[in-house]
Amino acid sequence: MAAFQEQVVYQIYPKSFRDSNGDGIGDLRGVTEKLDYIRSLGADYIWLTPFFPSPQRDNGYDVADYCAVDPMFGTMEDMEELLQEASARGIALMLDMVFNHTSTAHRWFQRALAGEKQYQDYYFFRDGTPDAPPTNWQSKFGGSAWAYVPELGKWYLHLFDVTQADLNWENPTVREELKKVIRFWQGKGVKAFRFDVVNLISKPDVWEDDPSGDGRRFYTDGPRVHAYIQELVRDTGLSEAVTVGEMSSTSLAHCLRYTQPENGELSMAFHFHHLKVDYKDGDKWQLQPPDLSRLRELFDTWQTGMARGGGWSALFWCNHDQPRIVSRLGDDRRCWKESAKMLALCLHLMRGTPYIYQGEELGMTNACFDRIEDYRDVESINYYRILSSSGLSHEDVMDRLQARSRDNSRTPMQWSAGPCAGFSSGHPWIPLSHGRREANAEAEEQDPLSILSFYRRLIALRKSRPVIGKGGIRFLFPDEPGVIVYERTSDTETLLAACNFTSEERILPLSGEWASAELLLDSYEQPPEIAFHSLRLKPFEGCALLKG
Ligand code: GLC
Ligand code: CA
Repeated sequence: MAAFQEQVVYQIYPKSFRDSNGDGIGDLRGVTEKLDYIRSLGADYIWLTPFFPSPQRDNGYDVADYCAVDPMFGTMEDMEELLQEASARGIALMLDMVFNHTSTAHRWFQRALAGEKQYQDYYFFRDGTPDAPPTNWQSKFGGSAWAYVPELGKWYLHLFDVTQADLNWENPTVREELKKVIRFWQGKGVKAFRFDVVNLISKPDVWEDDPSGDGRRFYTDGPRVHAYIQELVRDTGLSEAVTVGEMSSTSLAHCLRYTQPENGELSMAFHFHHLKVDYKDGDKWQLQPPDLSRLRELFDTWQTGMARGGGWSALFWCNHDQPRIVSRLGDDRRCWKESAKMLALCLHLMRGTPYIYQGEELGMTNACFDRIEDYRDVESINYYRILSSSGLSHEDVMDRLQARSRDNSRTPMQWSAGPCAGFSSGHPWIPLSHGRREANAEAEEQDPLSILSFYRRLIALRKSRPVIGKGGIRFLFPDEPGVIVYERTSDTETLLAACNFTSEERILPLSGEWASAELLLDSYEQPPEIAFHSLRLKPFEGCALLKG
């Protein structure tokens, strides 16, 4: 079995992690400074989101040069030092390859704009008139997915921001260029890669309007996506690496194909269905309370389905695009610690490789910005405009941003209760969270009952109990509202994880053999009551039991 099945990844958003030179922007030397912290957590990999030269329209996901370091984050020497220092601590770096699109500031796009046909073919340029985009597809950040270039009399495709032009993977030269990027970083010793929205790289042969959607049906898990991934992996020797693909609006069947080892594609996949249970009608900008039955059902379907087909999932609640989970599915006011720990336990004991996003291990909460000027994220700012002009009141729009903005997770990492939370000695590029400041590393470091200590124990448990990495999985109590309970089994042991996602007590019938089981972890200081035939869970309690 590949080692990544027993490992844990820590995600760093460098801009908000640690600023080493006081300019208010986190940087690579800031990451190096904090390597001992990450090591003490027990993480094996650091997924570092993009630090490449970029106009920063989408915080670095608009890449202008894949093989260099943006001066804002430091130098190539800083990067080499980080790689070396991390490796000295047994930590590997996972770099973020944004290969669906480049920034329009990339020299390829600039040469396309200058009229070079060869470079126009790196992208999707289509002849047309300014009043008629080639299709009615919508950008994921709002508005049309096409932008017009009057000088050329052509439209180009951008599924994200207007400055993020989609690359034409049908062009073999593009594929060769991208392989060179992988080889460049392999040459620096990088052995793990994340591929940004990689299931969107294969566009359809015919361009047609989407009569009822935003166009995603045509390019999501597109016609040649598996062949392109296989080719990239084969030609760069990536099957030796740890790889993860971000799969947008994907399906279980495709995720199996992306990750079954015999297909020569990726080690694992991020899929997002479980993070849409609070979207009303599937729309991120319409709020509804989380549908907990749906959440349970989705975990059951995906976990059981991926296990049955021999695929592998990346397990995550948080990343730089998602609100903080304790504010979303927990209770960050009355049961802050208990719910943060329960959520961690629920996720980390499932089948897959867990990812922890900076600050999650401290129980950091949403940003709670109440002024539009505090937001930095291009999607949030676009949607502020779109929702406001659709007739919603300012208050209503601000409530939606508070719940859904990607900036919720992009506030500075909280290292201490001191000025600027110990993130910077200067003025941070984005305000601190208005949420809990006691969620900080210094305060939690020494406290055995802190959320941080709980994450450390969870990670250590994964490494000492093979059933977590290797075992099978089965979900129990499908009809019990608001609880997620599952069993992990190997030949020699059975682990039970039971989590209460509600603010009320829940009593579960449990077979008598569990009465003498070992309690591995609990989100409360007081262990749960295990009577002979029942398990009583307090509000937001999560516990793990083991029997031999
Ligand atoms: C991914 C990234 C996100 C970015 C988008 C476009 O979803 O995680 O931050 O905006 O791709 O690159
Ligand atoms: Ca800095």
